[in-house]
Amino acid sequence: MRILLLGSGGRENALAWKLSQSPRCESLFIAPGNAGTSKFGTNLNIGITDFDSIRKACIDEKIDMVVVGPEEPLVKGVTDFLISSAALKNLDVIGPGKAGAQLEGSKAFAKAFMMRHNIPTATYREFTLDNYVEGVEYLKTHPLPIVLKADGLAAGKGVVICENHIEAIAEFELMIQRAKFGEAGKKVVVEQFLTGIEISVFVLTDGKNYVMLPEAKDYKRVGEGDTGPNTGGMGAVSPVPFVDASLLKKIEDKVIRPTVDGLRKEGLEYRGFIFFGFMIVGDEPYMIEYNCRMGDPETEVVIPRLKNDLVDLLDAVAKQELDKVKIDTDTRTACTIVAVSGGYPGEYQKGYEITGIDDVNPEDSMLFHMGTTEKNGKIITSGGRVFCITSYGRSVFDAVEISKEEMQKISFKDMTYRSDIGFEFE
Ligand code: AMP
Ligand code: GLY
Repeated sequence: MRILLLGSGGRENALAWKLSQSPRCESLFIAPGNAGTSKFGTNLNIGITDFDSIRKACIDEKIDMVVVGPEEPLVKGVTDFLISSAALKNLDVIGPGKAGAQLEGSKAFAKAFMMRHNIPTATYREFTLDNYVEGVEYLKTHPLPIVLKADGLAAGKGVVICENHIEAIAEFELMIQRAKFGEAGKKVVVEQFLTGIEISVFVLTDGKNYVMLPEAKDYKRVGEGDTGPNTGGMGAVSPVPFVDASLLKKIEDKVIRPTVDGLRKEGLEYRGFIFFGFMIVGDEPYMIEYNCRMGDPETEVVIPRLKNDLVDLLDAVAKQELDKVKIDTDTRTACTIVAVSGGYPGEYQKGYEITGIDDVNPEDSMLFHMGTTEKNGKIITSGGRVFCITSYGRSVFDAVEISKEEMQKISFKDMTYRSDIGFEFE
């Protein structure tokens, strides 16, 4: 099979690593990829939303399957665009069409979907310019803290948790009156704050059947002890020690099956990954968000624990034969630690040389590139999150210690990372 993978992060490096191991992967292309993905296939210099060039690459390279890593092309309709092309009649695309991608592309859509299918989630209301005044009144008496969510994609920044009413009303005004998060963010979901532990569960669905992949927990805050601003993710662990069979069963019965059934009943064609973000309150799962793709850096711990051939799995998705598949999981713990540029998630410099990347001991660890590029034979930084090191261990502590040890071998100017990933499980 000839495969084109879209994206350029650690998630895509992990997917490229796994896809390339399949005997069925004849050729792998990554658009645009990074300095790590080029070890497993051919990087194509094409942007993830340059649909015409993606279609041309599919035709020129005789691609059989496109695997879409990030949300932006999905929400913008890359799947519909490619499969409706007369020249690509036999192409399979892993990733939902624009309608299904609304699960991530619109918070208001996702909340209404959860309501329609009785999926447990925080109570909420939706406001726009039309009911702005009512919204301000609603906020004045809302219990604290208050969660405000801009409706559309906002590069992970569209959720604001306000500790007092004045701050909430000011933020509400910025979102609706001043389009702080753009036009799509002028619709705002106001949500009850949930207290609990966050976990992520990943599902592959063919629109009729689904399989559950290993769960994970990511560490979003930039600082040790979960402090400081939110990032794309500073590390992740899988499995999550407190998640047992009874919690997973609840998650499946109350959320996952109703979601897949709901998509089908509503005629939302969906072949791809669904990322379920949960808050576990007591021992009850509440849905926080859907993503129409895998997580990053969660993929870098989930995929290394997946023993199945990924091409077989994705082919079963395309053929709607996931009912014939059984997921085989590595029982070891996998943890990843992300190395970031100094200053991230605020302003940071790019273009620094990274040394020591080839020194990572392949026995228990692997390095996945995130924001890297190659220049004159050197690997240089090109993003906030630069690379991550995933290690296997007998426990979270064990795996994190191994990744930390390997981290010592690598450096670039102002490199930082969290040394306390998995701290609550020690
Ligand atoms: P999201 O962009 O939807 O993933 O939200 C970003 C983060 O905000 C989540 O990972 C949670 O930590 C937090 N969050 C979102 N919704 C809630 C909620 N209802 N209660 C508490 N925290 C929330
Ligand atoms: N790590 C969170 C995400 O991928 O959205």
